[in-house]
Amino acid sequence: MLRFRLSLSCFSWLVLWSLPYEPAINATLETNGGVFPAPLDSIGGGQSAAQLWEAGLGVLERPLERRVALVTGAARGLGEQMAKALAQAGASVAFADIDAEGASAAAGRLGGRTGPTLAIACDVTQRFDCEAAVARTLEAFGRLDVLVNNAGLGPRHVEAAPATRSAKFWEADPDAWRDVIDANIKGTFLMARTCAPLMIAQGWGRIVNITTSLATMQRVGNSPYGVSKAAIETQTLIWAKDLAGTGVTCNSLIPGGAADTAFVSPQTRAALTAPGGRGLIDPAIMAAPIVWLASDQSDGVTGARFVARLWDASLPGSVAAEGAREAPILRSST
Ligand SMILES: NC(=O)c1ccc[n+]([C@@H]2O[C@H](COP(=O)([O-])OP(=O)(O)OC[C@H]3O[C@@H](n4cnc5c(N)ncnc54)[C@H](O)[C@@H]3O)[C@@H](O)[C@H]2O)c1
Repeated sequence: MLRFRLSLSCFSWLVLWSLPYEPAINATLETNGGVFPAPLDSIGGGQSAAQLWEAGLGVLERPLERRVALVTGAARGLGEQMAKALAQAGASVAFADIDAEGASAAAGRLGGRTGPTLAIACDVTQRFDCEAAVARTLEAFGRLDVLVNNAGLGPRHVEAAPATRSAKFWEADPDAWRDVIDANIKGTFLMARTCAPLMIAQGWGRIVNITTSLATMQRVGNSPYGVSKAAIETQTLIWAKDLAGTGVTCNSLIPGGAADTAFVSPQTRAALTAPGGRGLIDPAIMAAPIVWLASDQSDGVTGARFVARLWDASLPGSVAAEGAREAPILRSST
């Protein structure tokens, strides 16, 4: 393709930018011929994303031009921001959420020049939904490279449950307690187990699990949420080992503080935004790390934990990643 052979002179940059954007989905479906996975080369003119990046096309901030991502919980909040960032980086993105209308609206809110998107109704606690969401993504885009396990329920779900009398674990509604465990742990597992074989078969893939800070994991009254996120961290460590040598990586990413989403209760919001409070983090803080984690730039980085708040987006990705890397939650053993 002509556009990928152009050098990065000012002239060619302008030419590139002014070319009409052809959605990758067309290229995928035309060249794939029904074969899974659609070869990356068939989608982007014969050069790998790494080659394009090395050629300086990363400057155009479309390092994911031929990649396909699925983000769960993408109807709003952190999931929407990550799905948006991946699409802006050129990826074809499936916005999956239990809130189907919200997922469609979020995909529709994307402005400007992005990769093609798709909204999928998916309850991650249901095995069939997870399998159907992946099948739908393959049908639309021909392959699947990146899974962002972001969908989740937080403490608000337990607080709002009718049988909850307090945040103490023995006074929490047991059904709501189980809902959080199901959405956060089982949902993450069901999505990952469906995607992993595809990624292993193509020799490249990314699983990014969204978890939380160490303080939140052990905060008073924060069972089951803290429990579920600690479990996802250990899942990340185990899955990274299970996937070793396959080209598929598994890492976790956290915002690094309370982010400005519907997840945060009105009381917490009021406390954090009061004078002298710590404030709320802009959910868009997840953009730079998720794009780097989804790119060839993070090849070989696995079993790691990154804090978006510590990510300096003005630095090259690998340098920013080192600065934002936090020790695993468990002391290393074999
Ligand atoms: N907001 C924060 O301060 C914060 C901090 C640390 C980690 N996180 C984590 O980030 C992730 C996203 O949080 P957020 O702040 O954007 O929350 P949010 O409540 O704004 O969004 C969560 C999304 O997940 C979807 N969802 C819930 N259950 C689902 C299910 N069973 N199947 C599919 N989709 C489902 C919801 O519909 C919603 O769109 C969560 O995993 C959360 O634990 C959030």
